[in-house]
Amino acid sequence: MTIAVPMLDLARQHRALAADLLPRWQALLEAGQFIGGAEVERLEREVAAYLGARHAVAMNSGTDALLLALRAAGVGAGDEVITTPFSFVATASTIVHAGARPVFADIDPQTFNLSPASVARAVTARTKAIVPVHLFGQPADMPALLDIARGCGAVVIEDCAQSFGATLDGRQTGTFGLAGAFSFYPTKNLAACGDGGIVVTDSDDFAERVRRLANHGVGAPQEYRVCGFNSRLDALQAAALRVKLARVDAWNAARRAVAARYAELLRGLPVVTPHIAPGRTHVFHQHTVLLPQRDRVAQALREAGIGHAIFYPRPLYRQPALAAYAPPQPLPVVEDVCGRCLSLPVFPELEGQEIEAVAAALARALTG
Ligand SMILES: Cc1ncc(COP(=O)(O)O)c(C=O)c1O
Repeated sequence: MTIAVPMLDLARQHRALAADLLPRWQALLEAGQFIGGAEVERLEREVAAYLGARHAVAMNSGTDALLLALRAAGVGAGDEVITTPFSFVATASTIVHAGARPVFADIDPQTFNLSPASVARAVTARTKAIVPVHLFGQPADMPALLDIARGCGAVVIEDCAQSFGATLDGRQTGTFGLAGAFSFYPTKNLAACGDGGIVVTDSDDFAERVRRLANHGVGAPQEYRVCGFNSRLDALQAAALRVKLARVDAWNAARRAVAARYAELLRGLPVVTPHIAPGRTHVFHQHTVLLPQRDRVAQALREAGIGHAIFYPRPLYRQPALAAYAPPQPLPVVEDVCGRCLSLPVFPELEGQEIEAVAAALARALTG
């Protein structure tokens, strides 16, 4: 089959939502309610209830969700924060913005999430926090990471940008550590029509600190207790997110069905398809495989009109912005995975014939 397949097509989703979404936006335009307000408060309550957290504090991005969570946890100058080098840059740049030093540990070769053994080796007397990422929508090994954190007195801030709705032993990501930071960037499993993010936590104090930081440090009216940020969510985004939250379980199930179909179609080929570790519900924010001759295969897919992406082409410590934090020796697993990974189209509206076209093109590229 020779059809072009997009990596992602958000228009398909939004066409189906327009009838629900546009009246809500119209009402907000008429009310002139743009920043905060009832839609944002309802979103916070609904997200907290969905995830099983006491508090949710909405803000303008996943990046700020990470940064403000780190700041509210007291992470700052002189501290070390252990994290993964196989992630989006914001996982580590926010640690730098908090004033601390990112310390990169290696990843697990099957799940691509932080390796607890490598994290344990990276602990020092300065370790203040551990930031696992539930990468591509699969929960990290939270019991092992929480054990390490308890042992060294560190807090855990979960980077849940890619994992909305993913569970480990029935528990939602974002509810294991002190806090979870979610992104509502338009490509995410639960996505705004622009930027957005949220911090969830069970701690009343911590939630209050995050909320204050996100709104200029305001305490009482006209009283600013700390130097904060302008990091608020706008009502139009909250309204869109509430419409989508009602559908996120069905969408995540559809993503899992796409992954299951890829697994069937790619069986027997020299491709390592995603490994789902025990007890996890994977939400397939990305469907990432390992391949021989990845760059040649990527070129063949490009020529066949098949969408794909490389998440991530190099460990974060090989990015110029973060090179100062490179570990003394390269980390072998992440070095290997960065050279072989390739992400295939996965989104709820992907059609059966498109999945088949991707698999067929991949088979041709691998055997040709
Ligand atoms: C793992 C990870 N962390 C952090 C972020 C930052 O989120 P945002 O783009 O909403 O600032 C993203 C996504 O963009 C991400 O994928």
